[in-house]
Amino acid sequence: MDLPEEILAHIFSFLHLQDKCNAFTVCKAWSNIMTHPSSWKDTEVRCESGTSVPDGYSAFLPLVRNLKLRMGLIDPANRKTALWVLRQAVARGDGRLEGLSICCVGNTPLFYAGQDLQQGLVDILTNGSSLTMLDLKGVPFTLSDSFVRSVAMLCPALLSLFINNDSLVCGVNAETLRQVLKCCRSLNVLGVFQASLSQDVFKDLMLPERPALKKLELRCERSLKYTLPFCDQIWVELKLRHPRLWVELELDHTLPELHFSGALQPSIPVRCLRLLTFTLLLDVVQIVGQSYAKTLEVLELQTTASPELNSALMALAKQCVNLQEFHCYCVVSQEVITAFITNCPNLKRYTLKTHKEPHPWTCTKLK
Ligand SMILES: *[C@@H]1O[C@H](CO)[C@@H](O)[C@H](O)[C@H]1NC(C)=O
Ligand SMILES: *[C@@H]1O[C@H](CO)[C@@H](O)[C@H](O)[C@H]1NC(C)=O
Repeated sequence: MDLPEEILAHIFSFLHLQDKCNAFTVCKAWSNIMTHPSSWKDTEVRCESGTSVPDGYSAFLPLVRNLKLRMGLIDPANRKTALWVLRQAVARGDGRLEGLSICCVGNTPLFYAGQDLQQGLVDILTNGSSLTMLDLKGVPFTLSDSFVRSVAMLCPALLSLFINNDSLVCGVNAETLRQVLKCCRSLNVLGVFQASLSQDVFKDLMLPERPALKKLELRCERSLKYTLPFCDQIWVELKLRHPRLWVELELDHTLPELHFSGALQPSIPVRCLRLLTFTLLLDVVQIVGQSYAKTLEVLELQTTASPELNSALMALAKQCVNLQEFHCYCVVSQEVITAFITNCPNLKRYTLKTHKEPHPWTCTKLK
């Protein structure tokens, strides 16, 4: 194989740690390439039963810039290994580690609240203040206020922070979020539960010294029951202050219908909307068409099939002409599919079925 070194290094960068280490032992040429820093820039390490991370690999971990830790939780040994990997990457990496994302796989032990991982992370991050991206969407335990505050204090360089997991309830209050904004002055991408927002958080986001906010990912779930909905005006103001902001909104099945309209204020610059409520969404589909027609690029629906839904969707196709993806997980009529294909010239992927199929439904890609 006569590919240039840089290209091979780029290809190797997609392998996870164990495969990278195997590639290292294949031949002299490959082992040279594996010392290329770009082979290590993005690295996934799997700490699951059946895989091990031999001590010898620790020499490579300090080369990693963006680390994805994938771990099984059932066996405490995997959690220990994951923390060991992170410690190597942080403590010996001279502040190279910029991105960390943690993704837990498999079953979660009964009553597991992630205390060892939250505490372990805080201990290690004491040495890792260079992080600019922290993605904790893949952890299946509720993050505590004190954990999030510690992380913010230890990682003042953060540009992106994601603490919005789709299977959890909100554990982070607005005061903690304000603390995060205070510590991480450059933060411009934030994934949180909508219930963690408050008027004060909005005000902080609008302060003149804050950098341009690029993206908000907001999860709307049952905790919203206990908060007052925002008035649309606050979104108008936020958009004026941050004209390039776009929002990804997700409503899940635990959110009572009463709160849908509060979560879907018309002036939110929604680019991506996931309505995973399993309820009838006729009114909501209308709201979406009226409010987000200009900005909406990705839409996902979990709802119930009906002739009325078909009509509502056909109207939506005429309004939301910027859609790039549309996924609807209930059957629709052929006219609906035709409406989206003809009205939305940028449509790249869609999941629209005229008959039930076994799950998971495959998505159709357009050229
Ligand atoms: C922090 O870094 C120092 C020096 O590199 C190291 O001795 C120490 O063990 C590290 N602490 C943690 C918690 O990883
Ligand atoms: C939340 O965590 C669970 C368990 O780790 C994971 O399967 C799920 O994908 C996570 N959600 C997101 C949005 O990443």
